Amino acid sequence: MKIGMLTSGGDCQALNAAMRGVVKGLSENVDNLEVYGFYNGYKGLIYGNYRLLTSEDFSGILTRGGTILGSSREPFKNMRDPGENGIDKVEAMKNNYYKLNLDCLVILGGNGTQKTANLLREEGLHVIHLPKTIDNDIYGTDMTFGFYSAVNIACEAIDCIHTTAASHNRVFIVEVMGHKVGWLTLYAGVASGADIILLPEIPYSDDSIIEAIEKRRKAGKGFTILAVAEGAISKKDAKLSKKELKKKRAKEAYPSVSYRVAQMITERTGSEARVTVPGHTQRGGSPCPYDRVLCSRLGSAAAKAIMDGKFGNMVGIINGETKLVPLEEVAGKLKVVDPNCKMVKEAKRMGISFGD
Ligand code: F6P
Repeated sequence: MKIGMLTSGGDCQALNAAMRGVVKGLSENVDNLEVYGFYNGYKGLIYGNYRLLTSEDFSGILTRGGTILGSSREPFKNMRDPGENGIDKVEAMKNNYYKLNLDCLVILGGNGTQKTANLLREEGLHVIHLPKTIDNDIYGTDMTFGFYSAVNIACEAIDCIHTTAASHNRVFIVEVMGHKVGWLTLYAGVASGADIILLPEIPYSDDSIIEAIEKRRKAGKGFTILAVAEGAISKKDAKLSKKELKKKRAKEAYPSVSYRVAQMITERTGSEARVTVPGHTQRGGSPCPYDRVLCSRLGSAAAKAIMDGKFGNMVGIINGETKLVPLEEVAGKLKVVDPNCKMVKEAKRMGISFGD
């Protein structure tokens, strides 16, 4: 059996653990397994940059962050545009697949990666997709790997801010990754006792934020902690078109939404408001034990899918069980936080403000 493997899009902590799961699941059960690793995501498949991997490559990588194959963003929307030297990227990927005589291509990545995996499926390649992203926004799986590892890091950042915020009676904003969806901010915020959580799915008003800060102040709490998603948006801005918003943001020239919120808080309350951005630390370091288990299970389930010839699927986890989910049903869909979901309601009941 010959399989190809690639990791595409932003990295996360458990990519290596997932690849190890696939290869162990296959090598224990299949004779003459050959695994080709394509470097730097789809680029490796397009330009034929790959290597035959050995069992040594998969040894000792369960706990190692990043990806042994490297990754890059090769946006789906540009897949039909000519690549370097005018190359037809889709045809090039197919050619390399057929040249190596692969039985299956295992593709690890997030939403954009999944769309291209589905495109390759439509083009007749045997693909299996594994859902990676710290954003946990892939439709059709309860969990993506990388998410809980990132929650741990974002949560630790907010925990550290807590003690200093209390000492100085300041307002602190911790900006959490997630441009389009707020799962990471929601989980990290609740886990670390943030007072205000701002998500892309729940546009905020300045008045509500100030109200929540004042309420704490009246209750004798001198500090307030906000967990703000990168993609948090005000009610006013949410009404703008993409073009209008881009123009407005360029004019305002804040490095990110958190700095805008911080300035607004300082102006309206007189309190010092500081911003901390953990940024890409949230994608770094070792995978947490949950992700190691998840990736071992998803990887092993992917191996079974390959041995059973069940291609064209994402291997997801639903209600605690691994499940094959047809790519055609999920590609292009986003799993967002429902503003009326139980978790948001439960958080609100505890006094957490969402600025709405
Ligand atoms: O998709 C994962 C993610 O980390 C998002 O949370 C974040 O908005 C984005 O990638 C950052 O992308 P880049 O690493 O390209 O700056």
